[in-house]
Amino acid sequence: MEFLDETLIRWIHLLAAATWVGGMIFLLFIALPTLSLRRETARAPTFTHTFARFLKIVWISVGLLILTGIGNLYIRLQMQTHTPLTVYYYGVFFLKFILFIGMLSMAGKLHFAIIPKLRELEAGSSEEGQKPVEELGQWQKKALRLTQGNLLIGVIIFLLAAYLTALATGHVVSE
Ligand code: HEM
Repeated sequence: MEFLDETLIRWIHLLAAATWVGGMIFLLFIALPTLSLRRETARAPTFTHTFARFLKIVWISVGLLILTGIGNLYIRLQMQTHTPLTVYYYGVFFLKFILFIGMLSMAGKLHFAIIPKLRELEAGSSEEGQKPVEELGQWQKKALRLTQGNLLIGVIIFLLAAYLTALATGHVVSE
C-alpha cells in the first residue's frame, strides 16, 4: 500500500511538472510561431486567449505540485532510516524550491498584470476603432520573454529533481 501511495504521488508530481514545462514548449515553439503567421491585428485576441487558457492549466499544475511536492518530501524524510539525507540534498532541494517560487511569481505576473493589460488594450482599441498595435506588440513580447524565462527555470528544476533523486537513492555520493 505504501508503495502504491508513493508511486501515485510521484506520478501526479511528474505529470503536473510535465504539463507545465511541456505546455510552455508547445506554446513557444508551436502555437505562437503558428499564430505569428497571421496579421498582427487578427492574432491579438487569439494570443491573449491562448495564454489565459494555458494559465488555467498552470494553476492546477501548481496546486498539484505543491501538494505532491510536500508528499515527496515526507516520503524522503521517512526513508531516512535506510539512506540518511545529506546537507547537500537539502541544499539542492532549497535551490529547487527557490526556483519554483521564481516560476510561480512569473506566472503570477503574467496572470495578474500582463494578460489584463493585453485585454484592456484590445478592448480600448476596438472602441476607438484603431488598434494600438505597437503597444500590444510590446506587451506580447513581455509575455513571451516571461514564458521563455520560466521555461528555462523549469528545465533547470527538472535537472535538480533528477539530481535529488540520484542523491537520495545513493547513486551519487556527497558529503
Ligand atoms: C512546492 C514545490 C515543490 C516541492 C516541495 C517539490 C518537492 C520534490 C521532492 C521532495 C522530490 C523528490 C526528490 C527526490 O527524489 O528525493 C521532487 C521530485 C521531482 N520534482 Fe518536485 N517539488 C516542487 C515543485 C516542482 C516543480 C515546479 C517541478 C517542475 C517544474 C518539479 C519537478 C520534479 C520532478 C521532475 C521530480 C522527479 C520525480 C521523481 O523522480 O519521481 N517539482 N520534488
